[in-house]
Amino acid sequence: MAILEVNNICKSFGSTEVLKGINFSLERGQVLAIIGSSGSGKTTLLRCLNFLETPDAGQIAVNGEILFDAAHTHAQSDAEIRQKRLHFGMVFQSFNLFPQYTALENVMLASILLAKQRPDYKKNKRAIHEEIQNNAMQLLEQMSLTGRMNHYPHQLSGGQQQRVAIARALALHPDILCFDEPTSALDPELTGEVLKVIRELADKHTTMVIVTHEMTFARDVADHVVFMDGGVVVEQGPPEQVFGNTQNERTQAFLSRYSQNS
Ligand SMILES: Nc1ncnc2c1ncn2[C@@H]1O[C@H](COP(=O)(O)OP(=O)(O)O)[C@@H](O)[C@H]1O
Ligand SMILES: [Mg+2]
Repeated sequence: MAILEVNNICKSFGSTEVLKGINFSLERGQVLAIIGSSGSGKTTLLRCLNFLETPDAGQIAVNGEILFDAAHTHAQSDAEIRQKRLHFGMVFQSFNLFPQYTALENVMLASILLAKQRPDYKKNKRAIHEEIQNNAMQLLEQMSLTGRMNHYPHQLSGGQQQRVAIARALALHPDILCFDEPTSALDPELTGEVLKVIRELADKHTTMVIVTHEMTFARDVADHVVFMDGGVVVEQGPPEQVFGNTQNERTQAFLSRYSQNS
């Protein structure tokens, strides 16, 4: 069974149709790369997955459970939406760490807020905090940030900040980790260190949806590639097909524009 099924997602802003019926699915442990030129709707699609936007039509299912169905909308409480959002971890282009908190605190923060809702929180506060801290430290170690845990964001490079953001997204054990151009704000050297940790996550069979302009990376790491243009999925398939042997003229035009620019 697919871990993620996206069916006919449509989204307009005013009279602008930004997503015109997006379909794809993803198997557990696999990596989906979404490629496409600027303005094609990639960010809007990720925002729909994370309940930051409400689609006008379509369904989103995780592990066979329909989390969103535009045909059966009822007013969802903030608590309901927050619960559903936990299926997805989100890493943005611009890291978005809290400047007043250390790397470790940034990773722990959401877990602590969640834990405070537990009925046993007051009674077991100490043990719960310790568990959250151990989990966060382990994730930062995995991101090669062992010596940086007590640093504040301004003391970290962009690449280090983005690795903290990845640890933060993993801290809540999402089913699917989503990235929106995770290296676009970074220079090439720092890009490499972030792509390296994402590759390591892929090797560990972390289920991921990655919007990226790094074509070589997408080709190497993705199990499935979706090419979007003008709010539609123009082509999707294994990387060997999309990058190596596409018969689609729009995919060919996009990729050749890309190779000329890089
Ligand atoms: N909140 C919004 N209101 C109005 N238009 C939006 C909004 N968000 C995105 N758009 C428009 O949707 C289109 C697709 O944007 P986006 O999803 O950011 O594309 P991409 O990430 O592929 O560059 C763009 O034309 C953008 O201007
Ligand atoms: Mg975008």
